Amino acid sequence: MTAADDRTLRAARRRFATLRRSVTLFRAFLVEQTDPDHFYGLLAADSVRQVSGYAELAGRTVLDVGGGPGYFAAAFRAAGARYVGLDPDVGDFSAAGESVAGMLRGSGTALPVRTGSVDVTFSSNVVEHVAEPPRMLDEMVRVTRPGGLLFVSYTPWLSPWGGHETAPWHYLGGHRARRRYERRMGRPPKNRFRETLFPVSIAGTLRWARGNGDVEVVDALPRYHPWWARWVIRVPGVREVVAWNFVLVLRRTVGRQPDAVKKSELTGGRVAM
Ligand SMILES: C[S@@+](CC[C@H](N)C(=O)[O-])C[C@H]1O[C@@H](n2cnc3c(N)ncnc32)[C@H](O)[C@@H]1O
Repeated sequence: MTAADDRTLRAARRRFATLRRSVTLFRAFLVEQTDPDHFYGLLAADSVRQVSGYAELAGRTVLDVGGGPGYFAAAFRAAGARYVGLDPDVGDFSAAGESVAGMLRGSGTALPVRTGSVDVTFSSNVVEHVAEPPRMLDEMVRVTRPGGLLFVSYTPWLSPWGGHETAPWHYLGGHRARRRYERRMGRPPKNRFRETLFPVSIAGTLRWARGNGDVEVVDALPRYHPWWARWVIRVPGVREVVAWNFVLVLRRTVGRQPDAVKKSELTGGRVAM
């Protein structure tokens, strides 16, 4: 990237990541349970704008790993992308009124997708729900074409929202927070510690990225913060708590293609995109 490109990117970020945007997202988050259409619709549109700051989307294939209820499908398609959502939980696909056409059923840890076939591999708030995050991240790298973009975001465990509906009691331990929730609500939480919710750090994911010869780090930022609060990501320890939600943007380099092909052959049954 040239210095001029870098300046343009930074100017675009400032126009996008305003304090007003952060406040709007936070207000929508407060009504997530009562008005999910509002929250997820807003989040999806916001995410598409964020991704488009790094990659052209019109006419490009976007794979959304853990796409969930389908809110992102409409937003990516509105930007002209060829959107393919993937989720193990097929029941969730239609929650936003989206058709299941163009959706894949599968796990992010064994993507049924051909190696190097995706322009933009995207995942929002899924990594913390996967028992082996590096396996899913490796798979996302594998399916992304050389030069393609990866955009991954998730809630780190030490974030105030790390325990999801059991927060903030997860700071006293995930199992304890879960037991407390069950006592209070008379039912287990949807996000159960070490079953459907796993402790993932920012440091661990950055270590994985820097140790992966097939990607370069394009950006690392707090997802919902205004641009002037981006510095928190450079402070080890503090970032785990104050980032709230972490975004890692990667570019696929040419790397170890033969290994990747071998891995894809092991998982079999790939969909060509
Ligand atoms: C909190 S939702 C996020 C949905 C959507 N991406 C968003 O940002 O609103 C987590 C999603 O991850 C999916 N998920 C859980 N385990 C997964 C796995 N191993 N591979 C892919 N997706 C998974 C769940 O089914 C669920 O749809």
